Amino acid sequence: MAKKRILSGMRPTGKLHLGNYAGALENWINLQDEYESYHLVADYHVLTTDLSTNEIYDNTIEMVIDWLSAGLDPQKAPMFRQSQIKEHTELFLIFSMLITKARLERNPTLKEQVRDLNIENLTYGHLGYPVLQAVDILLYKGDVVPVGEDQLPHIEITREIARRFNQQYSPDAPVFPEPEGKITQFARLPGLDGKRMSKSLGNTIFLSDEPDVVIQKLRKAVTDPQKVRKNDPGRPEICLVFTYHQKFNPGETPDIETNCRSGALGCVECKLKCASKINEILAPIIYKRKGYEKNLNSVVEVLNDGEDKARKVAQATMSEVRDKMTMG
Ligand code: TRP
Repeated sequence: MAKKRILSGMRPTGKLHLGNYAGALENWINLQDEYESYHLVADYHVLTTDLSTNEIYDNTIEMVIDWLSAGLDPQKAPMFRQSQIKEHTELFLIFSMLITKARLERNPTLKEQVRDLNIENLTYGHLGYPVLQAVDILLYKGDVVPVGEDQLPHIEITREIARRFNQQYSPDAPVFPEPEGKITQFARLPGLDGKRMSKSLGNTIFLSDEPDVVIQKLRKAVTDPQKVRKNDPGRPEICLVFTYHQKFNPGETPDIETNCRSGALGCVECKLKCASKINEILAPIIYKRKGYEKNLNSVVEVLNDGEDKARKVAQATMSEVRDKMTMG
């Protein structure tokens, strides 16, 4: 049986952090054998919130280095920039006719962004963010979309657009699948201050952080405020360091839980344990990153190669679309 297809992507924001890893990247890597995977750099999506293009290229390279260093294999999972495949813009126009303005205005992810970034004058393109994302997924006929939790509303809109297109132009043999989102258990990893881990909040641990940096950062992490002295009993359920243990150190988690509650384990020691576990996971990633940093050409080649593969798929889908619309 043919493998199901994964399509997922990220906006190029530069170096990735543990939240990006736990929320999506790790999942991409784990799924790359079982599925036929395509991964896209959503560089046009950046323009929805920032028109300056100065940093997009460098941020793209940094992000792709992290993808590769963490273990995404370009032979199995082509990686490409959305802006290099012209078919994205063409299908975006068609899809924009298949969804109402009211529906896009109800998108909770958009509402959150408008509130957090204090956006007063929303652009047409920003309102259409999920339409472009639907294009990203459906041009490649993605069946499964592994993403962070905040992206699920966009997958729902993608399903609606796929259904609408199929009904209108191809009722007997659907052109597009209705893709499913796939989230991880740690889809929203807390940052060092307990809020969602996010670069703009300055509460991240980067995949490229050296061991001493990880130790420093964890030392400052917020724990249970009622656990003031070493032997005070703690409440792991409200402690973000405990969440990190659950995610990155599951073997020791039961002991840590017992010893935190009884007061036998102090926060300093607990944080050091956690840092050393995270450093163990990051060590091979940092090692591989250094290799790519010395050979940036190989990263550009990965993208060019991925773009050749992606373009073929996108062109085939577009000719099917034009055909069904009798606009071929
Ligand atoms: N909107 C996604 C995010 O911010 C990035 C993205 C763009 C994406 N296109 C996609 C994710 C297609 C999955 C599939 O994380």
